[in-house]
Amino acid sequence: MAKLKLGVLISGRGSNLQSLIDACAAPDFPAEIVLVVSNKADAYGLERASQAAIPTKVVEKTDYQNRDDFDAALNDALESAGVELVCLAGFMLLLQDAFVTKWHNKLINIHPSLLPAFRGLHIHERVIEAGVRITGCTVHYVRPEVDDGPIIIQAAVPVHPDDTPDTLGERVLESEHKIYPEAVRLIAMGKAKPDGDVVTLGEKTELFESLINPIVK
Ligand code: GRF
Repeated sequence: MAKLKLGVLISGRGSNLQSLIDACAAPDFPAEIVLVVSNKADAYGLERASQAAIPTKVVEKTDYQNRDDFDAALNDALESAGVELVCLAGFMLLLQDAFVTKWHNKLINIHPSLLPAFRGLHIHERVIEAGVRITGCTVHYVRPEVDDGPIIIQAAVPVHPDDTPDTLGERVLESEHKIYPEAVRLIAMGKAKPDGDVVTLGEKTELFESLINPIVK
């Protein structure tokens, strides 16, 4: 079966990109990364991609006259590489509605909270301040509204009483690295289809169940 062609958009260290690179290295994984695009020339994720012999492209906002031209360049890069699913992995620019609409149901994001709780930035600080006991991470289809869209998979992560935003962030990141490849696998297998505002799941694996319950880890 042909593998689903992924384009990964990054802005920084690219640890989620790495989890996708590692998953794609397995011969039976149903997807492959055909392009990594960064809007920052110094993003460490670009090195990770090069080490895995994946083509990279830098598309910086400052190189374009306006946002529409920048979005067009981003779109062209993805289309010319034959990308079928765009994965946002720490891409720190808000995408414009036209881009999101163009890639409707072909654009996914990972967010370090249990959406729809804690959208936006500085999540772990806000989670600790709110006294939340269970947090987590979410992979979702992207809609024009920030951190909104049908949820594909989530993992629950306990908040410890002595957590700092950094320690909590590290624990959540471990789960992010499990759910992102799993979400891609489900989509590539045709088992996570958006149906209106929700995703119909065609499969629930042992991994899936263990991600939901942090005690079963
Ligand atoms: C992750 O926490 C992800 O959930 C958020 O941005 C961060 C990116 O980290 N969207 P990395 O670049 O993948 O290491």
